[in-house]
Amino acid sequence: MADKKARLSVDGLDETIELPVYSGTLGPDVIDVRALSGKGLFTYDPGFVSTAACDSSITYIDGDKGILLHRGYPIEQLAEQSDYLEVCYLLLNGELPSPAEKAEFVNTVMRHTMVHEQITYFFRGFRRDAHPMAIMVACVGALSAFYHDSLDINDAHHREVCAFRLIAKMPTLAAMCFKYSIGQPFMYPRNDLGYAENFLRMMFGTPCEEYQANPVLARAMDLIFLLHADHEQNASTSTVRLAGSSGANPFACIASGIAALWGPAHGGANEAVLAMLQEIGDESHIPEFIRRAKDPEDPFRLMGFGHRVYHNFDPRAKVMKAACDDVLAELGVEDEPLLKIAKQLEQIALEDDYFIQRKLYPNVDFYSGIIMKAIGIPTSMFTVIFALSRTIGWISHWNEFHSSPNRIGRPRQLYTGERQRDYPD
Ligand code: CMC
Repeated sequence: MADKKARLSVDGLDETIELPVYSGTLGPDVIDVRALSGKGLFTYDPGFVSTAACDSSITYIDGDKGILLHRGYPIEQLAEQSDYLEVCYLLLNGELPSPAEKAEFVNTVMRHTMVHEQITYFFRGFRRDAHPMAIMVACVGALSAFYHDSLDINDAHHREVCAFRLIAKMPTLAAMCFKYSIGQPFMYPRNDLGYAENFLRMMFGTPCEEYQANPVLARAMDLIFLLHADHEQNASTSTVRLAGSSGANPFACIASGIAALWGPAHGGANEAVLAMLQEIGDESHIPEFIRRAKDPEDPFRLMGFGHRVYHNFDPRAKVMKAACDDVLAELGVEDEPLLKIAKQLEQIALEDDYFIQRKLYPNVDFYSGIIMKAIGIPTSMFTVIFALSRTIGWISHWNEFHSSPNRIGRPRQLYTGERQRDYPD
């Protein structure tokens, strides 16, 4: 229900257009502009800076205050008191599970971890040095070919089964990408292990000997999954919603989300952070890189800094920074040269006027890359791990989209091309 109205007058139009204004539970009001197309007008907002494309009750971000809530719960509390699979349940179902509900949820997820054996043959078609995100886009899209029994998007039970399959199989596929790249045999999942422990075992174990995950590293891995689980209507989530709006199957939709996540302005930033730290190479080179980041003529940006929504410290980055310290202490690598560069860079950027004025703070990707490197995960796998973690966010939004009346997403444009003209005789 609209409790307020906005009034719009446009030169050349002899009426004032009244538009309903809606208030959410939190955040800015929105002006419902849908009536404008009937008046021959569109709104114009490249980059969707001022556009709410949907209503959603999953995640709320206050970028100025540095607040991130999942279903109302602050991310810091979830990071401290919950774990990744519980947050998956929360995002998908709206409430925290009871102990019995959680046990059943975990049990169901862990019983869907295996991928069809035919999937293993897909890998052989790829070069060993293929980027794992390329393999992930292909393999997740290919899952559509395996589960015809649950592809009715209008059936809530089918949607739920797809959610379980995706949450469960992403770690298996991700670890297979890594194993393929180093020529080791794929490791089958172990369903008696925790979600993160199972992932670490599939990544670093071999069939030749027992693998026991270090609990500090398993907890850090779980935290990385948890902190990346959802982030409102970001580029990849919006891509999943848009793909879903055409009625495409969930595996195809999640594959489109993985593709959108890959870019360095989004999920690819964690890989780009490490590449940047390596390029800087030595603390003495930092001022030169800061100078380049500030030069409007130079396309170089400090990777892991800035965010479209946060104009304050990214709350996930604070938790990640603390976890980073724990992991490095546990592994005894506090003196790692790249880490020294990272810390120094962070310090200089936080004190520099350019970054202060533009409110550019380190984001989650700045620290997650450092932790993953310390755990032994190669940089090319960083964005894959982001994709694995974000799958629950994507599927929750896709499910929310299909749980109420909806229509295909179809943006319009400001046309700037040629007017109609005749083909030359
Ligand atoms: N280094 C240097 N300058 C920057 C940076 C940066 N990392 N980020 C933004 N700026 C400057 C930019 O040049 C512009 O300056 P001016 O006003 O003088 O032209 C101003 O800050 C505003 O930037 P913008 O490009 O309009 O901001 P945006 O909201 O369109 O972009 C961003 C957001 C995240 C794409 C951008 O900050 C960026 O490219 N950061 C580096 C990549 C990165 O770390 N991405 C991960 C984001 S968090 C994880 C995720 O959500 O996927």
